[in-house]
Amino acid sequence: MSGKAKDNQVKIDQSQVELDSKIDELTQTNKRLKRKIFDLYTIFEISRHLNTVLKTDDLLDAIILTIIGQMGINGAAIFSRMIGDESNFILARHRGITLETEGDIVLRGDGRLIKYISSEQSRTYDFAELSRDLSGCDDIRILEMCECELVIPMSLKNEICGLLLVTSKISQTPFFEDDRDFLLILANQLAASVENANLFEREKTAFEELRKTQEQLIQSEKLAALGQLSARVAHEVNNPLGIIKNYLELMSIETGENDHPSEYVGIVSEEVDRIARIVRQLLDFYRPDSGEEVETNISAVLEETLLLVSMHLEKKGLTVEQDFQVEPAMIMASPEQMKQVFLNLIMNATDFTPAGGTITVTLESDGDDLLIQFRDTGPGIPEEDLPRVFEPFFTTRKGASGTGLGLAVCKGIVQKYNGTISALNHSEGGAVFVIRIPRIKRENNDE
Ligand SMILES: Nc1ncnc2c1ncn2[C@@H]1O[C@H](COP(=O)(O)OP(=O)(O)OP(=O)(O)O)[C@@H](O)[C@H]1O
Ligand SMILES: [Mg+2]
Repeated sequence: MSGKAKDNQVKIDQSQVELDSKIDELTQTNKRLKRKIFDLYTIFEISRHLNTVLKTDDLLDAIILTIIGQMGINGAAIFSRMIGDESNFILARHRGITLETEGDIVLRGDGRLIKYISSEQSRTYDFAELSRDLSGCDDIRILEMCECELVIPMSLKNEICGLLLVTSKISQTPFFEDDRDFLLILANQLAASVENANLFEREKTAFEELRKTQEQLIQSEKLAALGQLSARVAHEVNNPLGIIKNYLELMSIETGENDHPSEYVGIVSEEVDRIARIVRQLLDFYRPDSGEEVETNISAVLEETLLLVSMHLEKKGLTVEQDFQVEPAMIMASPEQMKQVFLNLIMNATDFTPAGGTITVTLESDGDDLLIQFRDTGPGIPEEDLPRVFEPFFTTRKGASGTGLGLAVCKGIVQKYNGTISALNHSEGGAVFVIRIPRIKRENNDE
């Protein structure tokens, strides 16, 4: 071969080598592109599926399972913003990780870890890097506990809304760049899905609250209508009742003491008294407005009421224990109406508590309110009755002995003075009625 031909051959060989390496490079790029397209397609499919899951719990489960399956990892965990304390992140779901603690695991929103990750949200973080740069930080111990290898920020509108933690791969190979890109895109898609589900749940809760308020409104309108009707009926009944009572008096004078008619007159008279009592309660129920609102020392009113019923309680074999922590305990209310509230509660406690029992009355201050509690050692209130005891006409007293208006009257009066009254059962048995009422703040009030 001539010298020139040799030169040409060398050139051809060189070109061939360059061509081969170019082809190799192109094949690699093509492979990577194909993997990227595949990853993006997978992400698209996963997001499409996850966007249809609207319950946050189900969504988090689906996300974790998908990631574990797609990445071939041992486990994963998701931290998301805490409901009610949006500044911190709570471990919302995990799988394939053995955690020793049972309580909530929380990453602080203002902690070093979240600050570190917030500064650059578009990359993944190796546990090794985090534990080196944030050594000694509590959050690192949490990551360690979660067997974390890689942390992927879940961000939305440039704000971290959660963290995705993944453990090592089952194959024990490291996370490649493509894996990290895949997880990062997926995490951001998931952030949108989680936000979607949270919004939906918040919307649902708001709707539920609105529905409850509407129900309460209807209920109070019904009560107002019932009150008006009751007051009219009561008024109409009151007059003939007075006349009947008068004629009964006359009849009892006319009839002899031992014959039957006298016994009948006695029975009728008792029943008329009962009707009169119901009518009075009905009128009170509709007119909780009666009674002048003045500065009232509620501890004095309590003392008076207890004194009033002391004989009755003694006869029934009941002991009263009182513990008043506030003196004077000033509220704006009608003392007469508050006495009526206390009487109703004490009479209930007396009637429902067997002889030998105790009625405990306590008065204490709680912030700007006064707390007055009546506790007895009776059978308590069956759980299913608890929501109903303040309803007008609700009674479990047998026969004709109760009107079921006592507690409804109490509630009307207490609410009029911006207070609340609630019923519960004591853990050691017996019923407890709790009145919370705003106190008048005075310089010389004892705490
Ligand atoms: N201390 C208590 N222990 C157990 N159950 C109670 C107690 N207080 C109230 N209840 C329950 O709440 C119901 C309603 O009480 P409420 O005072 O409104 O009516 P009542 O006592 O039945 O009749 P009245 O109108 O004569 O007071 C009672 O029938 C009873 O079932
Ligand atoms: Mg009662």
